[in-house]
Amino acid sequence: MPRHLLTGEELSRDDLYGLLDRALELKAAPRSSDALRDSVVALVFEKPSTRTRLSFEAGVVELGGHPMILRSGEMQLSRGESVKDTARILSRHVQAVGVRTGPDAVLEELAAEGTIPVFNMLTAGHHPCQALADLLTLRETFGRLEGLKLAYVGDGNNVARSLAILGATAGVEVAVAAPAGYQLEPVAGAVLTGDPAEAVAGAHAVYADVWVSMGDEETAGERRAALGPYRIDDALLDRAAPDAIALHCLPAHPGEEITAEVLYGERQRIWDQAENRRHAQKALLEWLVADRQNGY
Ligand code: CP
Repeated sequence: MPRHLLTGEELSRDDLYGLLDRALELKAAPRSSDALRDSVVALVFEKPSTRTRLSFEAGVVELGGHPMILRSGEMQLSRGESVKDTARILSRHVQAVGVRTGPDAVLEELAAEGTIPVFNMLTAGHHPCQALADLLTLRETFGRLEGLKLAYVGDGNNVARSLAILGATAGVEVAVAAPAGYQLEPVAGAVLTGDPAEAVAGAHAVYADVWVSMGDEETAGERRAALGPYRIDDALLDRAAPDAIALHCLPAHPGEEITAEVLYGERQRIWDQAENRRHAQKALLEWLVADRQNGY
């Protein structure tokens, strides 16, 4: 069976720590690995992307491979070809496939029906590649993960869920502050609250995401009203640990979920976090193809 990354639950703590160690090595020496030499990695985008596309496309090239960008609207998938048949065809031509789509079930079916590693580049439920970069940024900033606390403030969405899952694996306490109706379902190890001040107390990182994610546009008005008290500003950061950093998965809306002062200020690590997508994902790609079995 090939390895996959669908939710992040596939990684043990040893896997995760090894992957982050490797990401730091690759960050220090970006061209030091040719783990994807003679390999093609398909990157299927059903939704827009800046960071994910840039970081995966550049990362695959740095690992000696060839990234193949596929927009799902241009594939026969958009005309009714099944995910099962698409998985079989992908498995005959490429060595791994990443997908950005809505339903998590699409990734599950690709993984079940294909013979190559499948990785999640964002679904409605999960964004594990983002969480890997976030944990790498924490590790890089504080030199450790165990015993840290991360406070996520805002919509209890796919990013919050992936942080809760992978944070628990890493030994990072994750607190999610969200208003009623926008809170994450219980995730083992995560603290859920409606109070941003409670969430950020003692936190080493305070994390924001957009209030209106892709697909939520129809409810934008009510989301902005409900999430208004969940903005990250300097006053909220002052309630966290003295050396706390601000994180944001981007794209940002300065003045909405985060102030411009925090987004571009001295306490943020947001732009390093965005760069860390590439380093973390290169380590992930190495892990995914380490025991490659293409079945043909
Ligand atoms: N954070 C993130 O996934 O960014 P993109 O949507 O630009 O890929």
